[in-house]
Amino acid sequence: MLRAAKINEDFGSNMISDTNEFNTGIIIENLSVQFPDKNGGEHVEALRNINLEIKPGEFVSLVGPSGCGKTTLLRTIADLQQPTSGTISIGGLTPREVRLQQKFGIVFQNPVLYEWRTVRRNVCMPMEIMGIPKKERTKRVTQMLELVGLYNFGKKHPHELSGGMQQRVGIARALALRPKILLMDEPFSALDEFTKEKLHLDLQNIWSKTKKTIIFVTHSIQEAVFLSDKVVVLSPHPGRVSAVVEINLPRPRGLNIKDTMEFNSLVSKVRNSFEGV
Ligand SMILES: Nc1ncnc2c1ncn2[C@@H]1O[C@H](COP(=O)(O)OP(=O)(O)O)[C@@H](O)[C@H]1O
Ligand SMILES: [Mg+2]
Repeated sequence: MLRAAKINEDFGSNMISDTNEFNTGIIIENLSVQFPDKNGGEHVEALRNINLEIKPGEFVSLVGPSGCGKTTLLRTIADLQQPTSGTISIGGLTPREVRLQQKFGIVFQNPVLYEWRTVRRNVCMPMEIMGIPKKERTKRVTQMLELVGLYNFGKKHPHELSGGMQQRVGIARALALRPKILLMDEPFSALDEFTKEKLHLDLQNIWSKTKKTIIFVTHSIQEAVFLSDKVVVLSPHPGRVSAVVEINLPRPRGLNIKDTMEFNSLVSKVRNSFEGV
């Protein structure tokens, strides 16, 4: 009952951007996550004492080498992993409350599309699960495919698409339920450099149109600096925040910003912030 009423509120709105006042600011305090060792040995300390503040609508990257806890941090924010200690508050709500309200959209490195479904029906899937009426689903799928530049590919099947296009389908699918917070875990890592750069520009555009808070995980310093308002540098064993670097480069950013001194000095600043790597 409650859920149906909540979804209905969104009907009639043709806006892609979110207008209601859900506060997507995230405050993480003294967060630690440990994994018990299956053989009874030492536990793995994936994250130690993380303190971090993310403002509503901010684009924040988590950057660090493999194993430093990036995915664990993302999963803990999304309520897919429980903290050992510490708290996460999202506009005063717990991650669980935010998850139950479907305010998270998640994009993984591998988009995991259903081969037997067309692009349109892949994007539609979460809305079908949520029981959103057909007319609204059709409208939103069209809107999302336009947003990610795949409007003409709706009738194709995943195997007919390039890797970059498949990842765009994953983004459209994550946005279809109109999440307030988009969590992206190395979404472009498997793509070639040219495709990646195009997606960077498009993601910047999508972010500025939809005004979502985005947390973007990557091991690429350049990618993090190009996309973000703020880069959080994580160091491994145990995973902890070694630095938070503000990226005050003007927007919208074009690819040629990578040739500027300002960009390169920020890349160096992030690189020099790693501890013990
Ligand atoms: N489910 C799990 N069980 C045990 N250890 C885990 C689990 N998930 C992650 N880890 C460990 O936690 C650390 C951080 O992992 P992860 O968050 O995946 O890092 P990253 O995404 O930065 O590569 C690693 O040492 C990893 O082996
Ligand atoms: Mg990971």
